[in-house]
Amino acid sequence: MGKIRCIGVLTSGGDAPGMNAAIRSVTRSAICNGFKVKGIYRGFAGLIGGDIKPFSTEDVSNIIQTGGTILRTARCKEFTTAEGRRKAYDTLRREGIDALVVIGGNGSLTGAMTLAEEYDFPCIGLPGTIDNDLYGTDSTIGYDTTLNTITHCVDKIRDTANSHERIFFIEVMGRDAGFLAQNSAIAAGAEAAIIPEDSTGSDQLIRFMERGIRKSKKSCIVIISESPTCGAMHYAERVEREYPQYDVRVSILGHLQRGGSPSARDRILASRVGVGAIEALMQGQRNVMVGVRNNEVVYVPFADAVGKRKAMDLQLIRVLDELSI
Ligand code: F6P
Repeated sequence: MGKIRCIGVLTSGGDAPGMNAAIRSVTRSAICNGFKVKGIYRGFAGLIGGDIKPFSTEDVSNIIQTGGTILRTARCKEFTTAEGRRKAYDTLRREGIDALVVIGGNGSLTGAMTLAEEYDFPCIGLPGTIDNDLYGTDSTIGYDTTLNTITHCVDKIRDTANSHERIFFIEVMGRDAGFLAQNSAIAAGAEAAIIPEDSTGSDQLIRFMERGIRKSKKSCIVIISESPTCGAMHYAERVEREYPQYDVRVSILGHLQRGGSPSARDRILASRVGVGAIEALMQGQRNVMVGVRNNEVVYVPFADAVGKRKAMDLQLIRVLDELSI
């Protein structure tokens, strides 16, 4: 691989608040250090189809505060095939792009890793997902904003839960990771969280119901990590069947969790890792995700970032259990 002159940047997978701050950071830091930048639209689909535009500093003006992604995003099936990746590589050559920065979650960084390995092409990943499920970085871009959004929503639901003396099962995103559920439960003073990482083997609903819903409490809020089989509906139906004395409601927060202006924390994280991506390329780093661990910018090999499971601090379960008596 020759000298890097032009860097491509794309966002992929579910959008996350702070992705625009990351695009801005990559673009400005690259230009500041003498590189050309090209924005690739609609993730890997745009890379395959050649939906690409040269970026100047003005193209990323006034976006640090906005949610979503100005580059648009997609979940691209074709890129999971060798043929799709060959088309993507052909586009990179045709466009004169010498290195790629991919902002996205687990699936997107897996795609970047595969392309990098197959074509010996320099790829850098930035952790862009509300789920916070990437190994090697303390937080991901979008996670803090979403945690705050959920907390505000639960505060509002608490008003109606109190007024009607109800149990609410609130389902939040996170795919198969419970970071959003557990930490929003702590932040909102919920009575329980049901998360995939709680591996005690016991039934989390029974454990919670047996702890008893205090008589002095007017309401009860349980936050549940989304799951195709055991989401909020599943638990609400069980309570209606097994504990008919309670008035139960379900609220699935859905995609409102992904929108909105990013928090200061997410803007700063995105800005730091964007600069880190350009620094990584200048140092000759390849195939790493740029994260922040213990307040330091770190380079995490793609294989670790997507291959290792990020552990939940089980102490957080105790914090919630003790504070919700
Ligand atoms: O990965 C981010 C995420 O928001 C997950 O929490 C959720 O499971 C998924 O994306 C939803 O994806 P889509 O918007 O494609 O339905």
